[in-house]
Amino acid sequence: FQIDWKVEDEGLNGFPHFMLKEIYDQPETVRNACRGRMNVSEGVAVLGGLQSKMDEIKNLRKLIIVSCGTSYHAGLIGRYIFEALTDLNVEVELASEFRYRKLRLDETTGVLAISQSGETIDTLAAIREARRKGALTIGLVNVVGSTIARETDCGVYCHAGPEIGVASTKIFVSQLVILNLMALLIGRYQMVSLNEGVSLLKALNRLPDQVSDILARASQIDELARIYQKFDNNLFIGRQTHAAVAMEGALKLKEISYIHAEAYAAGEMKHGPISLIDENFPTIALLANDASYDKMLSNIQEIRARSGPVLAITYEGDDQCARHCDDLFRVPQTHDLLQPILTTIPLQLFAYYCARYRGTEIDKPRNLAKSVTVE
Ligand code: AGP
Repeated sequence: FQIDWKVEDEGLNGFPHFMLKEIYDQPETVRNACRGRMNVSEGVAVLGGLQSKMDEIKNLRKLIIVSCGTSYHAGLIGRYIFEALTDLNVEVELASEFRYRKLRLDETTGVLAISQSGETIDTLAAIREARRKGALTIGLVNVVGSTIARETDCGVYCHAGPEIGVASTKIFVSQLVILNLMALLIGRYQMVSLNEGVSLLKALNRLPDQVSDILARASQIDELARIYQKFDNNLFIGRQTHAAVAMEGALKLKEISYIHAEAYAAGEMKHGPISLIDENFPTIALLANDASYDKMLSNIQEIRARSGPVLAITYEGDDQCARHCDDLFRVPQTHDLLQPILTTIPLQLFAYYCARYRGTEIDKPRNLAKSVTVE
């Protein structure tokens, strides 16, 4: 991958921005998240940070995931992952809203805080409230020794190294990998079979190379960004886990390019957002090879019927979508629970290149801090 930009800071390793470097770190980020944590032949995950509380974790009936921003989007995907692999009843709550809930929390309720910095004040407040009410608190944190890491009963570190860019990229991917490992760890004491566990772990082993495959085609995303960066508003849509990926893609674009980007669960189009569609309002549509595919295709046709430009992110092997959209980028297929990781990568690059074309600040966007430690 040749960088043709002059570089000042050696920490950038030849990249023009930390955000781009961190996007390209992601194959290694996946490996670091998995390292020493998979017993493929047994189809089980090994997470030392949860070992001391495994009896309490096995006794959980409910899991509430609390987080903010990109970590919240990881939590929304985590809900599908835990529901698919465990018997847990799972809720996801914005940490800033958690304190207003009247929740029955006891030792059969786990509260999982997802936080890159481990210092986000809203997430920390949620953990403190959960502990006060007797819930088991679990952390998924990147910064070792951070406050949330110290104040939760147990947890797992991302081992992703420092994330400098304010717009989170590699940590989101790391969080999704580890949420799969956490859910597999619990699920293999419940209904997940050996074969199902082996299948997920083998797919995780293939993931770094699939991420690299997408990164090798970054120039295609650059070209798409050159076209779409001229629009001041756009919509990201998806279904199931890809509704949360749509939220993450919209947040990335907002944060660094200052383009107004909204995300919606695609099934909501008819309930209002479709009134926004015209030739100046493009949609980035996320498709996966699952039960939602045909409905996503219908969404795209409805949008195109109203002259809305459509950029589709779909999977390799999809031979229908190209006829119905203006532009398209394909990602490799993987296990359903890991597919959101691959679909996110082009959206990170899309936001990055749009910001470059618009000339906005990328690593330290206006008004934003890397960690929101004050309310
Ligand atoms: C994401 O790109 C933003 N930097 C922001 O939404 C971030 O995810 C949020 O502030 C949560 O931070 P945390 O993961 O450190 O708790």
